[in-house]
Amino acid sequence: MRLVLLGPPGVGKGTQATRLGAHFGVPHISTGEMFREALSQKTPLGLAAKKYMDAGKLVPDDVTIGLVRERLGRPDSSRGFVLDGFPRNLVQARALEDVLRDVGTRLDAAVSIEAGEETVVRRLSGRRQCRQCGAVYHVEFNPPPEPGKCPVCGGALYQRDDDREETVRERLRVYAVETEPVIEFYRRKGMLVAVDGERDIDEVTASIISALKEGNAVEESVPDGDM
Ligand code: AP5
Ligand code: MG
Ligand code: ZN
Repeated sequence: MRLVLLGPPGVGKGTQATRLGAHFGVPHISTGEMFREALSQKTPLGLAAKKYMDAGKLVPDDVTIGLVRERLGRPDSSRGFVLDGFPRNLVQARALEDVLRDVGTRLDAAVSIEAGEETVVRRLSGRRQCRQCGAVYHVEFNPPPEPGKCPVCGGALYQRDDDREETVRERLRVYAVETEPVIEFYRRKGMLVAVDGERDIDEVTASIISALKEGNAVEESVPDGDM
């Protein structure tokens, strides 16, 4: 299974990608997590990405595309993958096609998780993440049993720097301008599966899996020029 997950900041891409990766037995590849990990290790990549992330802007395409190309070239990606947070603009969407063509494969579907701005802002403001293992919780919607402590590894939970109000506003603006056209890109290819992200976490997972099973993405596809 080769999927990309699309949707605004805070809609639940990471939450669903973790579950879908486990369900299909493929790696969950998040460019945002790769940047945050690089930053926590203070690598040149992490330090270079930081100023863009803190400002809610996209990290330059050459950096991001290079990172994804390298990651998709690793052996575990040959079984499939769930991409979360990439592609985020049309340049990245076309680059992904090239990368996959080079290794002789293609995407099965692009899943767009949809929710209103009020919902995503509430999800972002209550999000807490584990510093050690990266697990994601929500103070209200998915609370850890013990506040501030990760039940998986015991690590401390923290609030992401880019979840500050001003940065969230900029991330939403960048999403509307740069990433929404990517949804249309996949729709035109007949690969888009749109799901209602307003429902609870388990319901969203179930609806993605059943939409993929029904093969909506395949059936809706209209071959270029043949009809
Ligand atoms: P990235 O890390 O990708 O952030 P994002 O796209 O803004 O999305 P988030 O991770 O904030 O939200 P999510 O949809 O994953 O939601 P989550 O599952 O956590 O990118 C960060 C930055 O890195 C970018 O701004 C950019 O600078 C850079 N970057 C990354 N990729 C890039 C690229 N390709 N090109 C250039 N730059 C790039 O859920 C949110 C909260 O809601 C959680 O608390 C969760 O528990 C809760 N929740 C989830 N689902 C539900 C539900 N159904 N009901 C109730 N609560 C829910
Ligand atoms: Mg995420
Ligand atoms: Zn943890």
